Amino acid sequence: MGDMAGEDDGSVGGISEVPNPDEKMARAAGKPLSQLQRGHEVYMLNCGQCHQYQLPEEVDIFDWEDAMPKMIGHAGLPTSDEKAVLDYVVAVKKSKGQEF
Ligand code: HEC
Repeated sequence: MGDMAGEDDGSVGGISEVPNPDEKMARAAGKPLSQLQRGHEVYMLNCGQCHQYQLPEEVDIFDWEDAMPKMIGHAGLPTSDEKAVLDYVVAVKKSKGQEF
């Protein structure tokens, strides 16, 4: 854990590096923009509380899928929000041209 956000330890979990969903990202992911916006919102509100924001492009998608049920439990979120966060994470990865 720890230094997942890279060099800028000064900022709170590298929050400024968490990308905003847009039409381009939605198209690349084949998901509705509203779903990605929901995922982004849930992510921003909940996922930096206990550790630094785990930036989507830096976390392996399989680790992410493993971690999510636990994290949702930690954060006390409903399943629909788990799906939204995962869709958002996958969309960020696809929009960065990452394959998985
Ligand atoms: C209440 C505390 C808490 C909240 C809220 C929380 N986490 Fe975590 N997270 C942890 C702890 C503790 C660990 C490491 C131990 C573990 O796996 O449970 C962890 C580990 C992780 C990992 C694994 C990191 C790796 O390097 O494999 C990911 C990914 C992650 N969290 C993402 C999230 C996301 C996304 C959210 C928002 C839905 C979130 N976390 C919310 C406590 C939390």
